[in-house]
Amino acid sequence: EQLQSYNTFGIPVVSRYFASFVSQHDLTSALDDARAKGLPRMILGGGSNILFTKDYNGLMLKNDIKGIQVVDEDNDHVYVKAGAGENWHSFVQYCLSADLAGLENLSLIPGNVGASPMQNIGAYGVEIKDTFHSLEAFHLHDRTVVTFTNNDCAFGYRESVFKKQYRDQFAILSVIYRLNKKPNFNTSYGAINEELERMGVKELSIQAISQAVINIRTSKLPDPAKIGNAGSFFKNPSVDAVAYERLKAAHPQIVAYPLADGHYKLAAGWLIEQCGWKGFREGDAGVHAKQALVLVNYGHAKGNEIYALSQQVLDSVHAKFGVQLEREVNIV
Ligand code: FAD
Ligand code: EPU
Repeated sequence: EQLQSYNTFGIPVVSRYFASFVSQHDLTSALDDARAKGLPRMILGGGSNILFTKDYNGLMLKNDIKGIQVVDEDNDHVYVKAGAGENWHSFVQYCLSADLAGLENLSLIPGNVGASPMQNIGAYGVEIKDTFHSLEAFHLHDRTVVTFTNNDCAFGYRESVFKKQYRDQFAILSVIYRLNKKPNFNTSYGAINEELERMGVKELSIQAISQAVINIRTSKLPDPAKIGNAGSFFKNPSVDAVAYERLKAAHPQIVAYPLADGHYKLAAGWLIEQCGWKGFREGDAGVHAKQALVLVNYGHAKGNEIYALSQQVLDSVHAKFGVQLEREVNIV
């Protein structure tokens, strides 16, 4: 199967076998396909956080499980369950239209609900772990359904058990979010307040915050429908206080945020921009001109060309700042 339209980088690789599934039953049938016995397999969502560097010699399983429903309620919360194959932003819009708060800052993140726990998606001061309740996942080998609570997922910054020790072992089937009946507005991210002011918003609402986030995102992140990309290619690195003070002394303009544990999170986009990469282009592989943390495919870049560029970026940031960046995108 040609995967070009199944990944937002637009890389034209093929998978040896491909099946989409709309239910657990469907998934089981796909796994029974005798041709794919013994081959690797992976679950595909919206393909917005993957870089394919070569053809996939295995079974690609596209998760298309749909459905959104309220499953429980208490005084302060409504519990909403969504199928893994639901588009993330559609799910956020469902919550906004029902006046359920908690996901408004995560508006317009590409991809599907099923991948949201994978790296604990986050933006504008919020991460899904703040509202995540639980999920159901199907173990591809044991063929059992396992429930994971928030604690079980071991969420961290762009991390969970699914990205590390359980990688490619489970298909997440559905996720339950615990939304708030009363909003707890989070405008800690400076740019949101500026945008709300610019919009002329007098009374704060989750809908206004969502719109502000949408405006900020569309102003600097490339639209994958126009330029291939997978969002931030690297994570923002954290360094200890000693390293931070040393960096700050050498580079007074450095962009950093103090963390609760005494470490500092550095803006990788700033580090990359300082190395001169912003707007760089070689062939069709490039570094986005408005956000240096985003690598882009202008059309016909190969996955390994994007990967090679990411290595050059890593090396130059390490050479200039002594800071080791880590890729955020899943490399296949
Ligand atoms: P895919 O890319 O299809 O898959 C990602 C990984 O998860 C793969 O390893 C895949 O095997 C696995 N996976 C997917 N679905 C399942 C499932 N049901 N069960 C088990 N494993 C599964 N991310 C952020 O956190 N914050 C942002 O602000 C943000 N902005 C972005 C902006 C742009 C323009 C783009 C293109 C991407 C951005 N991203 C951001 C990254 C991306 O949107 C998220 O990581 C998203 O959750 C990926 O969802 P997906 O369905 O496309 O996953
Ligand atoms: N910056 C630069 N040059 C750049 C880019 C950024 O100097 O080219 C500096 C600016 O000072 C800016 C700061 O870095 O103020 C932070 O930039 P931005 O607000 O754009 O956020 P980010 O740290 O680059 C992170 C996430 C994004 C998320 C935004 C908003 C990571 C790896 N990335 O980016 O997530 O949308 O914050 O919260 O944590 C993604 O994961 O794909 C993604 C887009």
